[in-house]
Amino acid sequence: MIKRLFLSGLVASLMSGPVYAQDSTQNAKSIEQGKQLFQTCASCHGTEAQGQKALGAPPLAGQLPSYLERAMAEFANGQRGQEDQHAQQMSAMSGLLQNSDQRKAIIDYLGSLSTRDIQVPNRSSDAAYRLYQANCGGCHGVKAEGNKALNSPRLAGMDASYLQRQLEHFKSGKRGASSRYGKQMQMMANTLKSADDIALVSKFISTL
Ligand code: HEC
Ligand code: HEC
Repeated sequence: MIKRLFLSGLVASLMSGPVYAQDSTQNAKSIEQGKQLFQTCASCHGTEAQGQKALGAPPLAGQLPSYLERAMAEFANGQRGQEDQHAQQMSAMSGLLQNSDQRKAIIDYLGSLSTRDIQVPNRSSDAAYRLYQANCGGCHGVKAEGNKALNSPRLAGMDASYLQRQLEHFKSGKRGASSRYGKQMQMMANTLKSADDIALVSKFISTL
């Protein structure tokens, strides 16, 4: 009996061994391909995909893979890209995002990059902190780290002006109408009643 258990375990590990090795080789290949492809993107998004404030390009390292795929596909098919001049700049790059295998390679590469830990200051008495935790943290996470199950992207590390522009676009309906995720975020942006609240919450997130 013991022998049989041992044997079946051995057979299982022999069967899974080569499959696993093949998977990791494929993944390493995809990461390498993504690294090459990302060279074009790095001029705006930064060599570590950390984003570049002066160009309005957000960080991509540490972002949820499922969100990256949706965002890239939306630029590729024109659902995003006309909101303002920053969006148009990204839209001009959309030719590089048409191929879904290449998108996957870039996403695999971005997932291989390390990101810094997010520190949340204890500011429960702060208006900005409370506004964020009450209206946004439930989906985007207490540290704005993102939530895969809720399809909510990571916001930590983004610049205040990028956040502010996106919130204004969701509010005005320029962004988000094309998907149910976007529509959800449109409703949430509308919970921010004033330009001051948009600025306050954007500034808070940008400190994370
Ligand atoms: C000319 C500069 C430039 C280049 C090159 C560029 N981007 Fe961008 N990208 C931007 C800007 C600016 C934005 C913000 C657009 C906005 O405000 O709507 C952006 C946004 C994005 C977003 C959406 C991020 C989010 O949080 O919603 C993704 C994904 C993205 N870029 C991927 C890429 C990839 C992949 C490449 C290379 C194939 C690339 N970009 C090349 C400027 C650039
Ligand atoms: C019900 C869940 C939910 C809540 C609450 C929520 N969001 Fe979102 N948010 C989303 C989803 C889903 C997306 C992705 C939308 C898309 O793919 O177009 C998103 C996208 C965003 C983006 C765009 C990020 C990018 O990379 O371009 C910003 C900025 C944002 N949210 C800020 C906020 C702020 C600030 C609040 C609080 C006022 C908030 N969200 C509340 C679900 C939520």
